[in-house]
Amino acid sequence: MANHRLTDKLTMRSCFRWILFGVLVFTVVNFCINYTQKYENENELNVFKWTPREVRHDTARNLSAYKSTPIFDAYYKCVFPKLEPLNGQYNEFFSKFSNLTKECDNLQAYKAFDIREVLNIDEIKYVALPRNQTQLLTMVTLGIGHDVTGEIGLKELHPNMEFYGADPTADVNKILYEDKLGGKYYRYAVSGVNGVQKSSIYKEYDNYKTEATEHIAVDYFFKYILNKSLIDILWIDIEQNEFPIMEQLHVNKEIDNAGVTICQMNLEVHKGLFEQPVEETKLFHDFVWRVLEEKRYIMLNSYSDKFIRTFMINVGDEKCRNSLLR
Ligand SMILES: *[C@@H]1O[C@H](CO)[C@@H](O)[C@H](O)[C@H]1NC(C)=O
Ligand SMILES: *[C@@H]1O[C@H](CO)[C@@H](O)[C@H](O)[C@H]1NC(C)=O
Ligand SMILES: *[C@@H]1O[C@H](CO)[C@@H](O)[C@H](O)[C@H]1NC(C)=O
Ligand SMILES: *[C@@H]1O[C@H](CO)[C@@H](O)[C@H](O)[C@H]1NC(C)=O
Repeated sequence: MANHRLTDKLTMRSCFRWILFGVLVFTVVNFCINYTQKYENENELNVFKWTPREVRHDTARNLSAYKSTPIFDAYYKCVFPKLEPLNGQYNEFFSKFSNLTKECDNLQAYKAFDIREVLNIDEIKYVALPRNQTQLLTMVTLGIGHDVTGEIGLKELHPNMEFYGADPTADVNKILYEDKLGGKYYRYAVSGVNGVQKSSIYKEYDNYKTEATEHIAVDYFFKYILNKSLIDILWIDIEQNEFPIMEQLHVNKEIDNAGVTICQMNLEVHKGLFEQPVEETKLFHDFVWRVLEEKRYIMLNSYSDKFIRTFMINVGDEKCRNSLLR
């Protein structure tokens, strides 16, 4: 009898332990789930508040008002037949764009440019050097990302250059851009509109973090902060904030209305950095078709891995042409 009671007691005690253990496991698992959910929600919150506008097709615009140039004609003639079959197929267009246009990167018409490569730590940028080797150039970096190797390479190719760089994280970027390069640093996330919004911030080792930062509209930045009407070289690598800027690059949009001309750009177009439906592939597709209609920029030396990098030269603007063409 006494023995029996002892076993009962033992069973009760171990039973109690198991319950305690169960409760502990439950709490930990629950905590983990909540934590992950919180993190996911954070990512879902308007990483940038901008929502793509519907691209208005044709009827609203007067296509015959867009004048062409021989260089644009050569570009169009090569690129259009390659891209045309993928009109409307957004994902395929995005993944095949660089491969399809590769054959058009070395057209005879482009021999009039002096195009060079400069190397950043993890990518190639392109530059079309001006004819006049002593011309003062304005260079703007949107998204410094802890790396000014490319800008330093540019300065070696063309020393008479003023550098202006914007990036929402100051710690490393300000030192690099000002002390190492000799440029002027601005602590802004440059995108579509002014105000505090979320951005993806480059930390290190390819880690990105979402933070609320002061955003500034690109037209405002060029016109009122930099006080420039002509930007010779623009590099954009800003982790998906590029879409509102791309929207403003079109003819008669905000950048035009601010009276600002951009002569050449290296643009990085991102996809899938955030789990949210911004339809990046459609935005890129529509951007390219509109560039083809407007006859202002040619896009060359495009490269894809996870993202698309492309080099654009303004052949529609006379000041840019006079500076760049032999
Ligand atoms: C379209 O632009 C062309 C050239 O600038 C002009 O001659 C024509 O009148 C315009 N058409 C309309 C409907 O505005
Ligand atoms: C692009 O071309 C390369 C080599 O020509 C090939 O290996 C790659 O699969 C192509 N990519 C796509 C998306 O077609
Ligand atoms: C080249 O640019 C410099 C500086 O702007 C200017 O003084 C010079 O006249 C230019 N040379 C030519 C040939 O245009
Ligand atoms: C802006 O630039 C123009 C010419 O480049 C100059 O005359 C003007 O003083 C500048 N404005 C400011 C506020 O710096």
